[in-house]
Amino acid sequence: MTGGCGFIGSHTVVELQQQGYTVVIADNLSNSLASVVDNIEKISGQRPVFEQVDLSSRQACLQFFNIHSDADAVIHFAAAKAVGESVRIPLHYYRNNIDSLLNVLEGMEKSDCRTLVFSSSCTVYGQPKKLPVTEKTPRLAANCPYGNTKQIAEDILTDLVHAYRVKAAAKEAVGKPWKILALRYFNPIGAHPSGLIGELPNGVPGNLMPFITQTAAGIREKLMVFGNDYNTPDGTPIRDYIHVCDLAAAHVCALKHMEKGDFEGMDFFNIGTGCGYSVLDVIKSFERSTGCKLNYEITTRREGDIEQIWANAEKAEKILGWKASRTLDEMTRSAWKWQQNLQGKI
Ligand code: UD1
Repeated sequence: MTGGCGFIGSHTVVELQQQGYTVVIADNLSNSLASVVDNIEKISGQRPVFEQVDLSSRQACLQFFNIHSDADAVIHFAAAKAVGESVRIPLHYYRNNIDSLLNVLEGMEKSDCRTLVFSSSCTVYGQPKKLPVTEKTPRLAANCPYGNTKQIAEDILTDLVHAYRVKAAAKEAVGKPWKILALRYFNPIGAHPSGLIGELPNGVPGNLMPFITQTAAGIREKLMVFGNDYNTPDGTPIRDYIHVCDLAAAHVCALKHMEKGDFEGMDFFNIGTGCGYSVLDVIKSFERSTGCKLNYEITTRREGDIEQIWANAEKAEKILGWKASRTLDEMTRSAWKWQQNLQGKI
């Protein structure tokens, strides 16, 4: 698992271990801490193998794959993901997110491990005309370099599978078939119910949930709500927030689907709840589920924000047997428990 010390990665390690998988983590700790490995062990009772590797270095990545050439599958989370930062330092985003994907694919090819779950994002849909989005909803031009790296990555994977099929049809020696699932995540929030792992933003959080918990904790003075003049019921933007533990479980279902044997090639899945909530809904849920009053103020829109998006996640239910089950209140409550744990309050 690449990026296994990060927010989604760490929850997925726990979920995999609890389902009997052995996990090896490669992470460069650029946006995470090595102590996450200790906390994973506290939850699952198993210590994952951890190697600090910068996967955007071809040599380091190939060496990692060489050592772990017995891997059955790869889950590739490792990537930079801040929309605003990607606008300011696009080359870093392209180099980091694309080079690391290419290196991981080369490492997989060399060790004949051809089963991959790739972290994609609902960002590939831009602002869709029709809601909810299905996997057939056309992708729109990305509105930032981060989003563009996800679209490019999906295209690279599609081309790779196509190349395999062409070679297989020509009866060239091609090794095992590629099996690739791109999971298009909606907005993951919340934390493990133990409070031991969660989202650890670097500096001032760009995302809504950590900004809310840090404001309630007194680290930030006030949450700025970016616009209430959107064409939505309360005027604030709508997203499909999903509990990170539900999202983690989707990865296990994705692996099991590919293990079954009859699947090969590439497929795409929306991983969301199918429900849209506004920014004010999230604030109200936080206040309700934690009993904390939140200091917030409405300000102007944030550049690049879309108005509304939520998933049709029926394909994941039908084919992967996966469905999100946790409520918005469970998401906001668990995020608060994690924040309190970070501050040594529990
Ligand atoms: C974006 C990306 C998503 C990416 C995620 C990771 C798009 C469409 N989405 O999600 O693909 O995975 O970032 O970083 O590119 N908000 C406030 N105040 C704040 C922070 C946020 O009002 O201080 C509002 C935003 O305007 C938005 C909502 O909260 O309406 C969610 O924002 P955020 O958590 O940043 O996620 P997205 O922008 O939806």
